[in-house]
Amino acid sequence: MIAETLLATLLASLRPTLVPGEWVFVSVPRDSPVPAECAATVLEAEGRTLVLPRLKADQLGLEYDFVAAWITLEVRSSLEAVGLTAEVSKVLAEARISCNVLAGLHHDHLLVSVADAARAVETLQELSARHAQVPLSPIRLRAEEAADRPAILALVSEAFALAPATGLPVEGEPQEAAMLRHLWEHSAYLPGFSLVAESAGKVVGYVISTRGSADGLDLLALGPLAVAPRLQRHGVGSALVHESIHRANAAGERGIALRGDPGFYQRFGFVSAASLGVESPDPGWKEHFQLLPLALWPGGVHGAFTYAHQQERF
Ligand SMILES: CC(C)(COP(=O)(O)OP(=O)(O)OC[C@H]1O[C@@H](n2cnc3c(N)ncnc32)[C@H](O)[C@@H]1OP(=O)(O)O)[C@@H](O)C(=O)NCCC(=O)NCCS
Repeated sequence: MIAETLLATLLASLRPTLVPGEWVFVSVPRDSPVPAECAATVLEAEGRTLVLPRLKADQLGLEYDFVAAWITLEVRSSLEAVGLTAEVSKVLAEARISCNVLAGLHHDHLLVSVADAARAVETLQELSARHAQVPLSPIRLRAEEAADRPAILALVSEAFALAPATGLPVEGEPQEAAMLRHLWEHSAYLPGFSLVAESAGKVVGYVISTRGSADGLDLLALGPLAVAPRLQRHGVGSALVHESIHRANAAGERGIALRGDPGFYQRFGFVSAASLGVESPDPGWKEHFQLLPLALWPGGVHGAFTYAHQQERF
């Protein structure tokens, strides 16, 4: 079989396959015997690195830190193929999955944390499907159900693992996940405005709008909004915002306020809330506090916006 060098063809036929078992990296002296179970070895100045089944390392009393799952890319790739490792690393990095690559003569092999194994395979399958021009499972928008909540919290934690304002990693659970737990229990919660985007039965996007008000007028407060990192920039976030606007107009709502990046929200018609007479709950938010006047926007509104649940939030 001729090894493929054309990147798009390689990506279209990646066929990521999870090898059973758990794998570890250990270091032994350079002249140590190599156990038969050793799947890869690298000679370095400091010693010999072995990649072993975890059970074997335990039997031999060898120390390790990282416990990995092994994913083989079944596509037969040429050692001269350009860009395959870069593309694979890029999508895994976007999904915040760290990955160690081993190149064999026939295949590439990826060692990822066991906790990330299923997500890594899914991410690679999606990369492959995009290049195979096989349509991904359609995205369906629907109201949240109680059973979705663990998946929503996991998604929101993943999407906000880097703080949007600074781009820096967030320690522990992002505040947006804690905020959601609070909102779901609060009277400001409006079930019809808690929406998930679903693909192949999985929650891949989420948005919530809750009750707020200004100058005695009931308004909606949108946010948090989150999309699974591996599917960002494919229109899912926009679809969720459009659906929120559609539902709000259909329900006779007057306007939607939010705190967010105007660069993203102005495409939906959001403008500075102050320009419509609605003051931000926090003056520091400035033009990041925005408002979308809906079809029934009455005009002549003058007052500060308050969240019904009385907490500062997105
Ligand atoms: C922000 C977010 C919800 C957007 O969803 P998405 O599905 O990735 O976005 P879409 O594909 O619908 O829209 C993509 C467009 O928005 C732009 N965009 C995406 N995120 C943006 C951001 N943070 N600021 C400005 N523009 C942004 C893209 O450049 C793209 O513009 P283009 O169409 O002109 O190329 C998503 O990236 C996310 O979950 N980010 C992490 C959490 C977060 O920041 N939530 C919002 C808090 S206000």
